[in-house]
Amino acid sequence: GAAELGPYQHYMQKEIFEQPRAIADTLESVAGIMPELFGDGAHQVFKDIDRVLILACGTSYYSGSTAKYWLESIAGIPCSVEIASEYRYRDSVPDPRTLVVTISQSGETADTIAALKHARGLGMAHTLTICNVATSAMVRECKLNFLTHAGVEIGVASTKAFTTQLVALFLLTLTLAQSRGKLTDAQEAAHIKALRHLPAAVQAVLALEPQVIAWAGEFARKENALFLGRGMHYPIALEGALKLKEISYIHAEAYPAGELKHGPLALVTSAMPVVTIAPNDALLEKLKSNLQEVRARGGELYVFADSDTEIKSEPGVQVIRMPEHYGALSPILHVVPLQLLAYHTACARGTDVDKPRNLAKSVTVE
Ligand code: G6P
Repeated sequence: GAAELGPYQHYMQKEIFEQPRAIADTLESVAGIMPELFGDGAHQVFKDIDRVLILACGTSYYSGSTAKYWLESIAGIPCSVEIASEYRYRDSVPDPRTLVVTISQSGETADTIAALKHARGLGMAHTLTICNVATSAMVRECKLNFLTHAGVEIGVASTKAFTTQLVALFLLTLTLAQSRGKLTDAQEAAHIKALRHLPAAVQAVLALEPQVIAWAGEFARKENALFLGRGMHYPIALEGALKLKEISYIHAEAYPAGELKHGPLALVTSAMPVVTIAPNDALLEKLKSNLQEVRARGGELYVFADSDTEIKSEPGVQVIRMPEHYGALSPILHVVPLQLLAYHTACARGTDVDKPRNLAKSVTVE
């Protein structure tokens, strides 16, 4: 009811603003990087695997897709990410030395549970879930688990569950890196420090809300939007597009910016807002030339740029300045303004934000 909402208009907005707390709670019992974070027996399991297979649906699939970049670059372990409803029905090549990771807010998504059972049936017994509900079927089904402490999530469009999943997946990455001798004490200490500072960093991003509201007024009049990101921010672009679709009913697509020229540039006109994630990372210069390609076709750019980039507002290019680049954890900061953009655009259009048409919070039937 209204009392629980406090100063917020919807559960989704409340849950977006709860993220600093949700992340802090998820990290609370983490004293350091060790296999036991994932349960008894994790030490042995992590020695018996050579690859990771992530299975999930919806927003949880996008946290898994982000983690693939971390697992391969930081832990040096091959990772594939599959949509549960596809994996369960396709012929695949099982490897018993696989860590099967399911990701689920509810722990009750029928396709994800079925995909897990399918993987186990193929002889892959090392199973781990990242889940927000301790008493769920998924936690019971998996040998190992890590519980996110997002708290109850009511808005159908997932927000705080997503960012806490990313925290859990980063911890898994560090733990697998350590098991494989790829994490020095100094690196571990630096990563832990960055994780501990994350709630404050997310808080700083939430303070950008008034600027995002100004953009949302313009977005509310659009029928299409394109989201661009590169590298580990490509799945964040996908998540931003999904959020906008789910609650504002605006058609949105995400592309890795380097792929623009292979199709989506044909859609770019002055009627097409192009939301761009611009972290100050190794791909920044490439991204800037992708943005030129959009400008040259009259596309309107809305850029979330790290403060240490030199991207500036100019005609046709609006910039919201993020804090300075946050390294490997940058996706966790960059998704937050995309959540706010979807939320405020939906509010401006007057949709049922917490219960979008045709969607359910948890899909427990196929
Ligand atoms: C539904 C929800 C999404 C969620 C997906 C997976 O589609 O509307 O917000 O991401 O299910 O749910 P899970 O509980 O498995 O993370």
